[in-house]
This record gives sequence, structure tokens and C-alpha cells, in this order.
Amino acid sequence: MKAVVLCGGEGTRLRPFTFTQAKHLLPVAGRPVVEHALGAVRGAGIRDVAIVVSPSVEGQFRERLGDGARLGLHLSYVLQPEPKGLAHAVLCAEEYVGDEPFLVYLGDNLLEKGVTGVVDLFRSREPSAAVALCPVEDPRRFGVAVIEGGRLVRLVEKPKDPPSDLAIVGAYVFTPVLFQAAREVKPSFRGELELTDCLQWLVDHGHPVLPSPVDGWWQDVGRPEDLLAANRLLLGQVEPRVEGQADGDSMIEGPVVIERGVQVSGSRVSGPAFIGAGAVVERSTVGPHVAIGPRAVVRRAAIARAIVMDEARIEGVALQDSVIGRRAAVRGGRVAVQTWLGDDGEVRVEP
Ligand code: DAU
Repeated sequence: MKAVVLCGGEGTRLRPFTFTQAKHLLPVAGRPVVEHALGAVRGAGIRDVAIVVSPSVEGQFRERLGDGARLGLHLSYVLQPEPKGLAHAVLCAEEYVGDEPFLVYLGDNLLEKGVTGVVDLFRSREPSAAVALCPVEDPRRFGVAVIEGGRLVRLVEKPKDPPSDLAIVGAYVFTPVLFQAAREVKPSFRGELELTDCLQWLVDHGHPVLPSPVDGWWQDVGRPEDLLAANRLLLGQVEPRVEGQADGDSMIEGPVVIERGVQVSGSRVSGPAFIGAGAVVERSTVGPHVAIGPRAVVRRAAIARAIVMDEARIEGVALQDSVIGRRAAVRGGRVAVQTWLGDDGEVRVEP
């Protein structure tokens, strides 16, 4: 089975970060969002993966992920010229898929237990489609499904008046009949070709569509606060590993990753936390739920519940619930700061 991982779209809700970096390449728990998704695909035993990207960020993906060998995958890139919807993105990958069943995974969706459940269900029951589902408090933000007699009977995208509390999670397995559906459905109220409408088309044309309940947490990454939520959830799964140096005046507690070349001195690091290669942490407290990017510098600071990206500098502040872009700097005044600061941004706080 092949997989198609959707990483098109514009990521406008994650500005300012997505002005300079593709949304799926933003780091969470020390790795780009999409690498976590690709790890789940590999975990389901799939090696051949096409990533659908928009032409403007194709280079960023190729530079970061290459041919996928580092991740144990054979990666191909498929361009979606314009973000015309999920079903349109899948249609762009039709030639790549050929005539076998395939997994579709939204590259901004993270699942505690990965995508093995929906893949295994498809393999054992061989329906026309299998869809991962999860009950949510407010289904209006999602595609929503109704089950009857063990099958899906109704699927609606972002309903004002949801017919159930079962949200469509971004993991589906389809037979190639999906391509026929995607050619037949019309654009939705938001002007996009929806996979949800394709699923309804399958149901209406007598093709069995089966539900696959999600076990464990599910987090999609659409807004900065979602990045922090995903960071917290994924850091909760890290395997502790210390490759860098911590001096005798430092204390490392809980599950912590300290990559090679890191120098921690006079500091306390409380897990779950991740400190990327070559970062410097001096006279600071870091954690819990903090991911610090490669070559970042943290001095006389206290950081909790935050993502600090590559080469950022945090000096003399207490930083919380924040996302700090690459090479950005927050310096100053011994006050508590909470901010979304894009790449190369600067905040200077007067004492
Ligand atoms: O998160 C689950 C939800 O994902 C489902 O419940 C919905 O049924 C489904 O339509 C989808 O809704 P969203 O509004 O969250 O989709 P979004 O526009 O955020 O796109 C999801 C992923 O697909 C994201 O990784 C970007 C990619 N994408 C999106 C569009 C519109 C593409 O690759 N091409 C596109 O044209």
C-alpha cells in the first residue's frame, strides 16, 4: 500500500510562522510536524509515500526530507498548483497511486497511536474506504460522520448543526474508486473539493465505507496554540537521551532529550523537554513542555510550555506559553513574556 500525505494549503492561521516556513515543517517536540506524521505512516508498514505540496514550498520540503531514506521511506513529491481542497490534492496524486488501495493522511494531524488502526481495518475488511473517527466536543470545526449498522451513512463537512459528535480524523484508506468520486463532486460552500463529499458520494453509490475509531489522543495543528498542545503531547512520548554536556551545577530531571553538542551550565532542565543539537543553556530553568531548537541560546531565563526554534536567543526573561521563530530574540527585563514571535523577530523588554 502507498500513502499520500497532504501538505498543501496555505497555513494562514499559523502566521507569522508560515510567512517564512511551510506549516508542516514547523518544529514540534524537536521535529517538523510532518516528520511525526511520516513516522506514523511508516509505523503502519508503508514505505512508498507521496507528499502533496504547493509549488512555493516544494524546495523547503525537499531540503528537509530529501528522498526520505533518513526516515526509512521512499518519498516522492507531488505538486498541487493551487489549494483547491483535499479531494483536489488527492487527485493530483492519482498517477502516483495507480490502481491499488492507498492511505490518505493529512500532514497536520497527529495521532497518539498513529494510523495502524485504520490501515489494519481496511486490510482485514476490504471496504471501499475506511475513515478514522473520534468523538469531539465541538464537531462544527470538522467533517462529521453518522454510523448506522456498523457503516458510515452520512458525512457532512463543517456542519452548523452537527448530526453527531463524531469528527472525521485526517486518516483515510481508499480504493481507487475515490478518484471517480473526486471527479464527480462539486466544490463546497468554501469553494473546495472536499474528501467528506467524496465519502458521501461513495455511500450514495453503494460503496461500503467503514468507521475506524481512534484510540488515544488526536491533535491537528492549525493555530499557534495547537503547536503548543502538540508539543506537550509529543514531548510526553519522548525517549530520554543525553548526548550533550551538562555541568555539575546543573540538574536534569524527568524525560529529557539533550542532543549532541548541547552545553547546559548552572541550569535546571525539567522534562518533558527537548534541547536540540548545539544549543546553549546557561543559568536558566527550562521545562516542562519545552522544545528548544538547534543552536538556540538561553541565558538567565526561565522557559515553560514553549517552542523556541533554531538559533533563537532568549535572555533575561521568563518565557511561557510561547512560540519563538528561527533566529528571533527575546531579551530583557526579568518579566514574564508570552508571545508568538516569527522568524528573525525581536522583543526587547526594558526593566
Ligand atoms: O483535521 C481534520 C479535518 O481536516 C476533517 O475533520 C475535515 O473533514 C477535513 O476537511 C479537514 O478539515 P480542515 O479544514 O482542517 O482542513 P485543512 O484546510 O486544514 O487541510 C488539512 C490538510 O490538507 C493540511 O495538511 C493541508 C492540506 N491541504 C489542504 C487544502 C485545502 C492540501 O494539501 N491541499 C488543499 O487544497
